[in-house]
Amino acid sequence: MHLIEVLELDAGSGIPLETVGSAYTPQGSEQGDESSLDDSDYDDLFSDEDEDMRDLESDTDPEDDESVLDGVPPEVTIPQAQLDSILGQMAVIVPCKGEDPNTIEGVLSGIPRGCLIVLVSNSEGRAYRKEVMMLRKFCRHARPALAIHQSDAAAAAAFNMYGLPDLVTHVAGGSHKRIRNGKGEGMMLGIALVAALCPQRRYVAFVDADITVPGAVNEYCRAFAAGFALNPNPGTETMVRLRWASKPKVRNGEIDYTCEGRSSQVVNRWLNKLLSAMADADPTGSLAAARDSEIIVTGNAGEHAMTMDLALSLRLANGYAIEPFHFVELLDQLAPQNAAAATAAAAHAAGYNAGRVPNLQPVTIMQIRTRNPHFHRVTDDSHVRSMWASGLGSIYHHLPASLNSSTTQTPSPQPSLPPSPSSSSSSLTAFSSKSFARGEKLRGDILDFLADNHEENDNSKGELVHEPPRPRIYPPVRQLDLDGFREMVRSEHKTLYCLNLPHFKLPRPNTIAPVYHHQYGVTPPL
Ligand code: GDD
Ligand code: MG
Repeated sequence: MHLIEVLELDAGSGIPLETVGSAYTPQGSEQGDESSLDDSDYDDLFSDEDEDMRDLESDTDPEDDESVLDGVPPEVTIPQAQLDSILGQMAVIVPCKGEDPNTIEGVLSGIPRGCLIVLVSNSEGRAYRKEVMMLRKFCRHARPALAIHQSDAAAAAAFNMYGLPDLVTHVAGGSHKRIRNGKGEGMMLGIALVAALCPQRRYVAFVDADITVPGAVNEYCRAFAAGFALNPNPGTETMVRLRWASKPKVRNGEIDYTCEGRSSQVVNRWLNKLLSAMADADPTGSLAAARDSEIIVTGNAGEHAMTMDLALSLRLANGYAIEPFHFVELLDQLAPQNAAAATAAAAHAAGYNAGRVPNLQPVTIMQIRTRNPHFHRVTDDSHVRSMWASGLGSIYHHLPASLNSSTTQTPSPQPSLPPSPSSSSSSLTAFSSKSFARGEKLRGDILDFLADNHEENDNSKGELVHEPPRPRIYPPVRQLDLDGFREMVRSEHKTLYCLNLPHFKLPRPNTIAPVYHHQYGVTPPL
């Protein structure tokens, strides 16, 4: 399994590390004493008792090391200046709902200074006021930030009028509209807000508001930036997804540093089965390495980041289905018969998966394992269950086109083995029906899994649940007329706060006088 790992949280000056046996040598480093060491010098380092250690050293051939990624140096330090430059173009969206403002403040304190903070709240009204007070205080030293509430009627009207009405619903018992409840919906509001108000932010990241270790948040943001910096296909749209070192649980008064969250265990497994089915259905064989693999390890990655263009281009799912559905959406766009196949295969070999957005741009997905344990609000079993069920629903109800009867596409002939005109039509039919059967088998297996894991009261009505829930899938945010959205939100907003963003003025009092320029003599990025 290929996964990029954080080796050191702060690796210093930015000189790539030397890797023994690698063609990748340190830039600008002096070989010095080290280059004059020969084997006997190394022998001196070990006593007889260290036989095992020496065997280990001699057995290790970097060529055989699965962690060595094509196109990416095996071990590399990202220069601080490069990280800072990316972080300075990043907006970090923090969806929150009912967290203690002190906890949220802890999260904000971990977000590097260059990043724009975007708090999207769905807390109840009075709590939002406290959150904003906390944000104002936190940003008092000229920190740029945005805050908005998901019930903002102006934002809802703007979505409704300018291209994304699906995101909006009537308030129960009221006459006005609001943005639907759900984490995914809050994230979409955040994406639209950044794209409309701060268009120069090229990257958008998501960090939960209930993380209780600020240092972890800091590592996540820097890992996002490192992922963008490491992209071996510069210029491609990129998604960086994090896998935590551990997700600790307290059991019998002791902390158990368990590696994989309960929902992730299930969702990763089924996403990998989906990938495997796609590999089986791929006539070119370019996805062969994905068959029976465990390559997807970040199916539920709440902490992830994207190039803004990608965030605007993807269809997104509601609530907690948003992260697993990213994979389903990208796999749906994967066209193994053409240029994307080469990207996919190369990307797979290098430790990330690739897909295509509808405008046919290749997409690189970087999966990174961070170092800090991930501590957050404890959730109960039914919450976890509904989370993995909605992940399975993303797969079950939205099989990618190549496995789906109604949308199965006929493959184009492979350049190396062009089928004869007479044989092509029947072989394509056979291919389509086999792919369909694979898709149906996967769906059947998901139903079996649900039946095996059935619990009393699986839904509030106590009905037997035969199928996983069908996620609501929203069109890409790109569909929104951003100018119209911005002007309506600017003029009619009820809950929007813009702190220290001198380029964007609100006509009504929520604006806080920009102090950045006076204090620092420079203008922050938009
Ligand atoms: N704006 C907004 N609106 N935020 C919300 C909403 C909403 O309707 N619902 C939840 N949130 C916020 C929470 O306040 C929290 O900061 C974040 O979204 C994650 O919600 P949790 O309820 O803490 O989710 P979780 O910890 O069970 O799951 C997290 O990790 C999973 C991976 O293990 C989420 O990030 C999942 O999306 C992720 O799959
Ligand atoms: Mg949480």
